[in-house]
Amino acid sequence: MGASGRRFESYHPDSSFTYEVYYLTTMTSFTIEVPKEQPFKIFLDTGDIEDIRKRYPTAMINGVTTNPTLIMKSGRKAVDVYNDIASEFPYLESISAEVVADNYKDMIYQAVDLYTIAENITIKLPCTVEGLKACAYLSSVDNTGGKKITTNVTLVFSVAQAIMAAKAGATYISPFVGRCNDNSFSGVELVRAISNTYRIHGVDTKVLAASLRDVHHVSRCFAAGADVVTLPPKVFDKMYDHVLTREGLDIFNRDYNTALHQQRLALQQDL
Ligand code: E4P
Repeated sequence: MGASGRRFESYHPDSSFTYEVYYLTTMTSFTIEVPKEQPFKIFLDTGDIEDIRKRYPTAMINGVTTNPTLIMKSGRKAVDVYNDIASEFPYLESISAEVVADNYKDMIYQAVDLYTIAENITIKLPCTVEGLKACAYLSSVDNTGGKKITTNVTLVFSVAQAIMAAKAGATYISPFVGRCNDNSFSGVELVRAISNTYRIHGVDTKVLAASLRDVHHVSRCFAAGADVVTLPPKVFDKMYDHVLTREGLDIFNRDYNTALHQQRLALQQDL
């Protein structure tokens, strides 16, 4: 317990309610702002606001991605999901909201409705000719009073597509690692090839590794140069987990209690 915990002691004279408990219970009202410069950016891949509520207090979540399938699973209207996430989590650097249309004009019309929801809404567009035309338009216009409209070009499966998306001015591109692996080519190697190509050419577009289904691939994507990863909640939860940490902690807790017991016995003998 640090100094900020002890500070509350005098305000709470009830001896059965220790300052530690008092301090911890006040945590619920804390507002956490995750630093924008935090390394290893992690977005949560979900359309369920409860998933974000549960994990945002870890201070590890930098953004959120959704897609039409995730919105369908939430059982809610897409615009309500985006509105709720944006108003409850204004500090997120990006909330991807995907347009669904077959031509660039309709994509732009949808994007205009979406990006006015909040400053941190990122327009997610498919990596097709129409999607990239819309991306180029959105990247060049600025109707938000000085702030660039951010875009996420999704369903990227080749370096060629990543090159075109960068030329269209995409803020992020999403290579779908898991779906590459499902189709017998390496998603991690795709992330590496795109990241290297962008680095050689000094491209600003960020590589957002998506479709990640296990912790191992998350680490490998960062090692391969990904700027951001987006994780299903279950994979995020496993990022902390290691069997040796759990086993080691069990031993430390057991030994701590044994030592405490021994000290109490020694104290009783002294009395
Ligand atoms: C990313 O933006 C997508 O929403 C997501 O990662 C797709 O993952 P999946 O291939 O497991 O559906």
